[in-house]
Amino acid sequence: MNMPSRVRIVEVGPRDGLQNEHHPVEVSQKIQLVNALSDAGLEYIEVGSFVSPKWVPQMAGSGEVLAGIERKSGVTYAVLTPNMRGFEDALTAGAQEVAVFAGASESFSQRNINCSISESLARFAPIIQAAQQNGIRVRGYVSCVLGCPYDGAVQPEQVMAVARELREMGCYEISLGDTIGVGTAKATRTLIEVVGNQVPREHMAGHFHDTYGQALTNIYASLQEGVAVFDSSVAGLGGCPYAKGASGNVATEDVVYLLNGLGIETGVDLSKLAEAGRMISQIIGRNSSSKVAAAIAARS
Ligand code: HMG
Ligand code: MG
Repeated sequence: MNMPSRVRIVEVGPRDGLQNEHHPVEVSQKIQLVNALSDAGLEYIEVGSFVSPKWVPQMAGSGEVLAGIERKSGVTYAVLTPNMRGFEDALTAGAQEVAVFAGASESFSQRNINCSISESLARFAPIIQAAQQNGIRVRGYVSCVLGCPYDGAVQPEQVMAVARELREMGCYEISLGDTIGVGTAKATRTLIEVVGNQVPREHMAGHFHDTYGQALTNIYASLQEGVAVFDSSVAGLGGCPYAKGASGNVATEDVVYLLNGLGIETGVDLSKLAEAGRMISQIIGRNSSSKVAAAIAARS
């Protein structure tokens, strides 16, 4: 299969990244980050979540972030919505797109959103319906696609079933999440082939956490399978509060460097992106986990 000539990067740093950073980040700092990311050329930014602040306190204030950012034309500003309450709040706050999130394993579903997989899908149905009525597109996540912190191995067929359901319910894209970063290239390709029997590759995205250092390799494997959308976090921020020990997403800087080398367009300015990564790393007081960012910093 031919590799894509253009990749869409879904920047999830302000959401997936910051949701698991312990250092408090002010609304104004989140706004500064989102603006720096759009300025670097990212066309899709997940800005926050409308979830329970008791569950994920770091995402409180997502409405204020949406209200405070400079909206650049051509950029989609999206948020996570686990239930109708979250969707209604997101709509009021002016989110342009929302995402629902399901697990491929029952235990992760319980720990993450306090219900079974089928209950979660039933909860998403009215969100998707209301979103369609309001002209808002819905993205669907499936978590733990290559392994679960509680249940261990996850079969590709389990992932396929949830992905197909989300697609049939109306999600325009299904993001396959290696939440705990355990996947390797072969398992990734097998997963895409199995899910690809039900969800066309042009409606799939890859979401790789880098816990075992395999994320870039898994992206390369996904490119070989024809996947052309990848989620990543500037500076490799974050992790998942319900997947202990999971490290952040693959760093956007590293993904852009890989794609630049392959001659695949992203529209992202790597030096501006590295600057945004430097800024947020300073705010949260830790080193970026991007090797590319470290190399750029060492050179300048
Ligand atoms: P629950 O406790 O079963 O629900 O939580 P509830 O309806 O009983 O509500 C509990 C409390 O939360 C109530 O407040 C509600 O009002 C409030 P109280 O009466 O106790 O004061 N509440 C809300 N508040 C604000 N916004 C809302 C909302 N809904 C209820 N939308 C619930 C169920 C889904 C709400 C909870 O489990 C939750 O918020 N979970 C969020 C988990 C989360 O955000 N996880 C991280 C994102 S997923 C991820 O990172 C994976 C991904 O990156 C892909 C990958 O890597 O695999 C996407
Ligand atoms: Mg994630």
